[in-house]
Amino acid sequence: MPELSSPIYFDNAATSFPKPPEVAEAMHRLIREISLSPGRSAHRFSLAASRVIFEARELTADFFGCPDSSRVVFTSNVTEALNLGIFGLLAPGDRVLTTGMEHNSVMRPLRHLEKTRGIRLDFLPTDRTGGIDPDDLPKQLNAKTRLIIINHVSNVTGSVADLTAIGKSKGKALLMVDAAQSAGVFPLDMEGMSIDFLAFTGHKGLFGPTGTGGFLLREGLLIPPLKMGGTGSNSEQEEQPQMMPDCYESGTPNTLGIGGLAAGLEFIRSTGQETIRRHEERLTRLLLKGMSQIKGLTVHGPPASANRGSAVSLTMAGRSVSDLAFQLDRQYGIMARGGLHCAPAAHRSIGTFPQGTLRLSPGFFNTEAEIQAVVTALEQISTQS
Ligand SMILES: Cc1ncc(COP(=O)(O)O)c(C=O)c1O
Repeated sequence: MPELSSPIYFDNAATSFPKPPEVAEAMHRLIREISLSPGRSAHRFSLAASRVIFEARELTADFFGCPDSSRVVFTSNVTEALNLGIFGLLAPGDRVLTTGMEHNSVMRPLRHLEKTRGIRLDFLPTDRTGGIDPDDLPKQLNAKTRLIIINHVSNVTGSVADLTAIGKSKGKALLMVDAAQSAGVFPLDMEGMSIDFLAFTGHKGLFGPTGTGGFLLREGLLIPPLKMGGTGSNSEQEEQPQMMPDCYESGTPNTLGIGGLAAGLEFIRSTGQETIRRHEERLTRLLLKGMSQIKGLTVHGPPASANRGSAVSLTMAGRSVSDLAFQLDRQYGIMARGGLHCAPAAHRSIGTFPQGTLRLSPGFFNTEAEIQAVVTALEQISTQS
């Protein structure tokens, strides 16, 4: 095994680590130099904070192919964004077409509304690798289908949904995309893919800090806000302002985090998203190739040759996934995640419920030597009695 002086982080699907130094530097500078409450006062710190948010909004709109940055709304994570969209868009009797690969940030609000609001869920068939076939979409659509909700890249298997094909077949239904795992790595084009509601989290592939995320809303789509309060605008009114994005952003925003997110977006722009994706692809291929030689190890997900994300799920005969994760961490200094990854539906779909899987998720800052180290560690564990 190569000499490794520091622990190895393979849990980028949970949150990316390390962040680019530019992100830490931008946040350090902001918290030292300005007071970070935007839009509330006319003094220079408040104006500077407003500029931080405005520039981040412009960068985000541009990044996701949205022509109007006022349609970008910042939230504390993708979970909040998805909840706002799901609760705001669905009325009694509506049907939702979704997949068996959704994260609980989608499944739990949907199951709740199924019970409390009488919505109905329909599911696209999922194969054993977590893949869905866009050709199944027209068969599953119904006159009452208000919303299609799709996880772009699975946090369990790495399978990728073909959003362009789905966007073309969506008919009158609205398309909501959970881009938690894909944003920053896979191309996302709101207009080109006919996405009506694109939800992203800031702390994974976009390299921002935790506590950041948001959504982009198609023009003309009106959704009631989840929270109301001070926005720094229309302060003479006791009613919530209607204008975008203020109507959704009540309360002092996470200016520090949003500034960090903007630095993450700048990092992706200067590095090149394609470069990031190719590096992650190479590491994922190496990982899958190395593991294919290990007896008793099963990979649950698309093969190396497929267009796939970097989340790799595995089980090992005779070993619990929690023991595997524990042993990797304590004995080899390798951080991975064992269990259901907040997506029990996905494990039901691929046949790994209730034990779950060990998930290794390489990111842009991992190296080939680290991949070799985890393959060697798994090989050694597989031979231990
Ligand atoms: C596919 C998917 N959706 C939603 C989420 C929730 O992300 P957050 O905790 O940032 O809201 C995750 C995070 O693991 C995810 O992988």
